[in-house]
Amino acid sequence: MILVRLSRIAMTVEAGGRLDDDIDLCNNDFVSTVAETAPRTDEQPPNDLVGEAVPSPAGPIDVAEAASLLKPPRIPQPPIVQMLRFNQRQIEFVFGARRRYGETFRMRTAMPGGPVITSHPDHVRSLFTASPEQAPSLTGESPLRPILGPNAVLTAVGPRHMRQRKLLLPHFHGEAIENYTQSIADATEREIDRWPVGQPFALAPRMQAITLDVIMAGIFGIEGRPERGTPEYWLRFATKRLVAASTWPIAQVGELMNMTREEAVGLTRIGLELLDRPTYAVIAARRRSENLDERRDILSLLLQAKTEEGEMLTDKEVRDELLTLVLAGHETTANSLAWTWERLVRTPHAYEALRDAVRSEDKAAEQIEATIVESMRSRPVVPMIGRRVMLPWRLGPYAVSADTPVTMSILLLHHREDLYPRPYDFLPERWLGRKPGTYEWIPFGGGIRRCLGAALAMAEQRVVLEAMTRRLDLEADTPEPERALHRNVTMIPAQGGRIVVRSRLS
Ligand code: HEM
Repeated sequence: MILVRLSRIAMTVEAGGRLDDDIDLCNNDFVSTVAETAPRTDEQPPNDLVGEAVPSPAGPIDVAEAASLLKPPRIPQPPIVQMLRFNQRQIEFVFGARRRYGETFRMRTAMPGGPVITSHPDHVRSLFTASPEQAPSLTGESPLRPILGPNAVLTAVGPRHMRQRKLLLPHFHGEAIENYTQSIADATEREIDRWPVGQPFALAPRMQAITLDVIMAGIFGIEGRPERGTPEYWLRFATKRLVAASTWPIAQVGELMNMTREEAVGLTRIGLELLDRPTYAVIAARRRSENLDERRDILSLLLQAKTEEGEMLTDKEVRDELLTLVLAGHETTANSLAWTWERLVRTPHAYEALRDAVRSEDKAAEQIEATIVESMRSRPVVPMIGRRVMLPWRLGPYAVSADTPVTMSILLLHHREDLYPRPYDFLPERWLGRKPGTYEWIPFGGGIRRCLGAALAMAEQRVVLEAMTRRLDLEADTPEPERALHRNVTMIPAQGGRIVVRSRLS
């Protein structure tokens, strides 16, 4: 309650005494000025739905050049006001700032020196192609750190990050993904069979049940659901409960309390203990296993891995890695699927095109891909990522000094009118016969920190979307689009993607 009040006060201050109108990503009017400055190229056919941005120089520069350039415009409100607005209403905050200050601007928060927020693909390219020494990831300073610890592949920087990434990557690529596909298909069919017909329900928890089983199978080497009473069972149970609880308003208080901390405190600490107990029990049981060296699952691999100094990973280090994979590896994908259906059931032409392609098996794979890509463009589950530049850096007309956090707003980038004409419309046809650009479409980030699970997440989305489209006729629960809810570093559908199953084919 206090938090909601504070946030409303913050918004009142920001809007000069007037509360901002509610906006969502379907409200084109609010944000249509965003890309006014970016011209369309003449060669572009009038119906072309993917364009180009005017080039903008970016990358490391020397101190003298940095001194000759302007500093990015600052949002003037007090840091606490900005933090609350960002935390509660990121969409309004970043679109409003871009309208006022342009594609690059600076926030003031508890994070020293920024962050600067940018949304130009050339700026993104400069950060993704920089070496990890020049532009390390900001995840080690993000709200994930008190939860996942500093040692996991997601939060570590430098040689440790590279080593962990190299160790884990083969498990999320090529053949490994093919091995996952059947278990994704089986989990999806089982799940669909349980859904009620004619009664509205939220898709996100149902999608989560599928993606959690898939990632746990890979990590622990178990088939299907873990057996009741095992530590794996309790870990799955605690993960589901805690992820559900993290959407409660009280959880946002916990989030704010943990900002900029190394270790979790308060409610987050209590929640983490519920996860830690079964996690450490799983680790202890597996350490005692006699056939550890014959097992191919990720936990067994971690238990046999060595650090640069030739030492085995401690239980705490293994726990950080496991929790990262379980949490990063299921909720993001589940919510991405929930967003896809939130859009599809409100965009009849897109749903019809998908249903026709899947049921007639005519260009089904292409239509499925286009639908997923467009969904991840218009509703990126992770709306922002960042790097800390360790040298003076140019961002178009501006320069920032060394040691500045620079974040890329995936949301703003994906809604640039020059890149994506009619950016607020859901148009899978944009992508028919076309691949998304490496620096223009970045729901999985990029460079050396690109999402480790991107191939798995895409495989899961393809299989689940295909099966649901083939077997179900779905409708929206209400005609209004769902708002976005910001939780930790993710952006999820506020109602979990509510739908009604009208009919189900066996
Ligand atoms: C739709 C689903 C997903 C989305 C939208 C997503 C998004 C992201 C993003 C934006 C990043 C940060 C990239 C950067 O800073 O450049 C990331 C990193 C990561 N993701 Fe995902 N992710 C998804 C699914 C998964 C899955 C299924 C896994 C399972 C393993 C996973 C594991 C990771 C890990 C370990 C990292 C850290 C990589 C590193 O720093 O080297 N993610 N993800």
